[in-house]
Amino acid sequence: MSATILVTGGSGYIGSHTIIELFNNGFDVVSIDNQSNSSVDAYDHIEQITGKRVVSYSADVCDIAQLRGLFSKHRIEGIIHFAAFKAVGESVEDPLKYYHNNIASLVSVLQLSEEFNVNKLIFSSSCSVYGNVTSLPVDENTALPKAESPYAYTKQIGEVMIENFCKVHPALQAVSLRYFNPVGAHKSGLNGESPINKPNNLVPVITATAIGKIPQLTIYGGEYPTRDGTCVRDYIHVSDVADAHVLALKYLIDGKNSVNYDVFNLGTGNGVSVLEAIHAFEKVSGQKLNYRIGPPREGDVVAVYSDSSKAGKLLGWTCKFDIDEMMRTAWLWERNVAERKK
Ligand SMILES: NC(=O)c1ccc[n+]([C@@H]2O[C@H](COP(=O)([O-])OP(=O)(O)OC[C@H]3O[C@@H](n4cnc5c(N)ncnc54)[C@H](O)[C@@H]3O)[C@@H](O)[C@H]2O)c1
Repeated sequence: MSATILVTGGSGYIGSHTIIELFNNGFDVVSIDNQSNSSVDAYDHIEQITGKRVVSYSADVCDIAQLRGLFSKHRIEGIIHFAAFKAVGESVEDPLKYYHNNIASLVSVLQLSEEFNVNKLIFSSSCSVYGNVTSLPVDENTALPKAESPYAYTKQIGEVMIENFCKVHPALQAVSLRYFNPVGAHKSGLNGESPINKPNNLVPVITATAIGKIPQLTIYGGEYPTRDGTCVRDYIHVSDVADAHVLALKYLIDGKNSVNYDVFNLGTGNGVSVLEAIHAFEKVSGQKLNYRIGPPREGDVVAVYSDSSKAGKLLGWTCKFDIDEMMRTAWLWERNVAERKK
């Protein structure tokens, strides 16, 4: 019998792509999402791609009573916890919103994992835990500095919470995956990022500008100490990130882990500047992008890219998509969304 995995935040960007990979690998999935930053349409996209319908609940993960109801109905064998708010700038302006949602949701998940004896957990962490690193590429042994934003701090706290909890519940096997910058869309162009809230990340803003939803793209800061003055990030295709979740889950299920809590970076290892990302988009789309360089944004780190060799070695994970494929699929998705609206 196939294992049922609970995906929190399953109609979101990375959650929906991960459900596709879970289905492709024979898992059953139950999703819970309150649609605070996504739409249930994602479940239709998943069905179009995989032919399978997700069992889904529209509910808040922080509401432990509702979540308990879900755990009582399904025999959950593992949890992938994506549900969180993720906009760095908004977290600076409204820190309590972030502390409440990102911490309370994890408390619910941990509490119910204990109550229902669910012993496999994958947590969405972020490269933002590394802040403004002094030495690149950054690997998992890098000491974590004071967080640059409340959002990043919720990820640092989340990791510590899981580590503390694992110490007193040694049956729980958990992994935190520190994603660098997930971008792009499913290779079919049938599923991609469609946030309810204003797009914040670079690639959705690039494609929204190219299609005419945003008149002009603003680059936050052009005088950073980088090769062209713009911030450097490690962009990684969302399906490669999704793939890593399935591998991490199998790693725990197969008992290949030697410790009951571990952390893995997920990045390609290639630092790409904002201007280089824009130029990659212009190359694959044949579109000239209207952009300007504006002031830097509070909470942004200057440059960060990953050493992900640990995930390669222990999980057997490799990236399949390069920056051109990331941009091609993101653009395909944006045009599909525009087509559907006609
Ligand atoms: N996208 C990135 O650049 C990135 C980078 C690093 C880490 N992450 C982390 O990965 C996870 C998923 O990110 P994403 O890009 O898919 O974001 P997303 O906003 O598309 O997905 C998150 C989903 O969680 C849901 N959600 C939020 N709070 C909830 C709650 N209390 N109860 C139920 N549902 C709730 C939202 O409606 C949304 O569908 C988040 O934890 C995020 O912090 C994302």
